[in-house]
Amino acid sequence: MDSAEQTAAHIKAAGSADFGSEVHGGTDRWSAQADGTAWGFETRAIHAGQDPDPTTGAVVVPIYQTSTYVQSEVGVHQGYEYSRSGNPTRTALETCLAALEGGSTGLAFASGLAAEDCLLRTMTGPGSHVVVPDDAYGGTYRLFARVLQRWGVDHTPVALGDLDAVRAAVRPETALIWCETPTNPLLNVADIAALAGIAHDAGARLAVDNTFASPYLQQPLALGADVVVHSTTKYLGGHSDVVGGALVTRDVVLGEELAYHQNAMGGVPGAFDSWLVLRGAKTLGVRMDRHCANAARVVGLLLEHPAVSSVLYPGLPEHPGHEVAAKQMSQYGGMVSFRLVGGEAAALDVCRRTRVFTLGESLGGVESLIEHPGRMTHASVAGSQLEVPDDLVRLSVGIETVEDLLADLTQALAAG
Ligand SMILES: Cc1ncc(COP(=O)(O)O)c(C=O)c1O
Repeated sequence: MDSAEQTAAHIKAAGSADFGSEVHGGTDRWSAQADGTAWGFETRAIHAGQDPDPTTGAVVVPIYQTSTYVQSEVGVHQGYEYSRSGNPTRTALETCLAALEGGSTGLAFASGLAAEDCLLRTMTGPGSHVVVPDDAYGGTYRLFARVLQRWGVDHTPVALGDLDAVRAAVRPETALIWCETPTNPLLNVADIAALAGIAHDAGARLAVDNTFASPYLQQPLALGADVVVHSTTKYLGGHSDVVGGALVTRDVVLGEELAYHQNAMGGVPGAFDSWLVLRGAKTLGVRMDRHCANAARVVGLLLEHPAVSSVLYPGLPEHPGHEVAAKQMSQYGGMVSFRLVGGEAAALDVCRRTRVFTLGESLGGVESLIEHPGRMTHASVAGSQLEVPDDLVRLSVGIETVEDLLADLTQALAAG
C-alpha cells in the first residue's frame, strides 16, 4: 500500500461515529454559473458558501456556537455531528475560500501554522524531503527545522528564484516543494508555474503560501500548484482581529486526505473566528486595491529618500522578480521592505518614531504596521541560512489616507 492508499483506507475506517465524518467546504452554486463561466471574484467573496440561512432567512451566515448536534436516531442527523469534524459557520468559510482560490476543497484552521502542520503531516512522513525557500517566513522555517526534522522529515533551503538550484535540490524522496511568493520579509518572487513543472516532473507536489498576495492578486492553483496555504490572520481576515489559516486544493483525493487529517489532528477554528474571517473576505478585493495603491505611493517616497539604501518591492522594474510577478500577479501587493543607510540603529529608530504606522508584528490589516524583522517576526531564524539583514524594516501598508502615511514616514525618516 502506498501512502495515498493508506490514507484512503484510514479515511474509510474513519467513517464511524467514533471518529465523526468530517464536513468541509466544497463548491456551491457560486463556484460557477449555470453555463460554466465563473462568477466575478467579489461576487464569490460575498456569496460563496453564504446563501441565506435556510432555517431563519438570515442574510448573514449565523455564528453556530455549538459543539454538538442533535441526532433523531443513532447515526441520523442533518450532516453535522461534532464541531471539530464540521461546523456550519466553518463550512461557509471553507466553501468561500475554495471559491476564491478556484479549488474544490477548502479547509479552515486555527492558525496559518496549524494549516501548514496539517498539510505537512498529510503529505510527508519519516524519510520524506521538502525543498523550502531560503527566505521562508520564520515560523514556517522553524516548523521544518525544529519540529518536522525531529520526526524524520528533511528539508533543503533554496533560493526559489533560481530554478536550476531548485532542480538540483530535488531528490527521489522529495515529496513537496514549498513555495512562498512574494516572500516574508524580503519580497522575493518565485515562478509558480515553473516550480509546478519541476515538482511534477519529479513526482512531487507544489504547495504555495499565498498569504502575501491573497487570492485577489494571485491564483496559484490555476498556475499548476497542488495546494494553497494561507495565514487568514492577514489579508483574508484583514482587520487584525483574528488568527486563522487555510488550505485549498482542486485535487479531490488530496482534499479528502487533508480533510481527514484536519479532523484527526483537530487544529480547527471556532465558529466566531470562522465568521470573522468570512466577514473579512467579503471586502478583500476593495481592500487589496487600496493596499496596492497606497504601497505604490510609499515606494515612491522611499525610493527618493536619502536615508534609504534600497527598497524591496516586486512592482519595481529593477526588482529581480518583477517580470515573473508581472506575469502571475494582477498587482504587486501592500507589503514593502526597505533598508537603511544608517544600519540597524537607524532601522530601529524609524520603527520607534512612526505614529500612524503602528509598531507591531503581523500584516494585512486595514491599519499600517511597521516592524524590524531581524528582532521581531524573524528572530527565530537568527544565525541560520535564513537570517535577515539587521538594517531591514518591513511595512504592511494599510488603507488609511495615503497623505498621512507619507507624512508619517517622512517625519520618522528625517530623524535618522
Ligand atoms: C507568509 C506567512 N505564512 C504563514 C504564517 C503563519 O500564520 P499564523 O501566524 O496565522 O500561524 C505567517 C505569519 O506571519 C506568514 O507571514
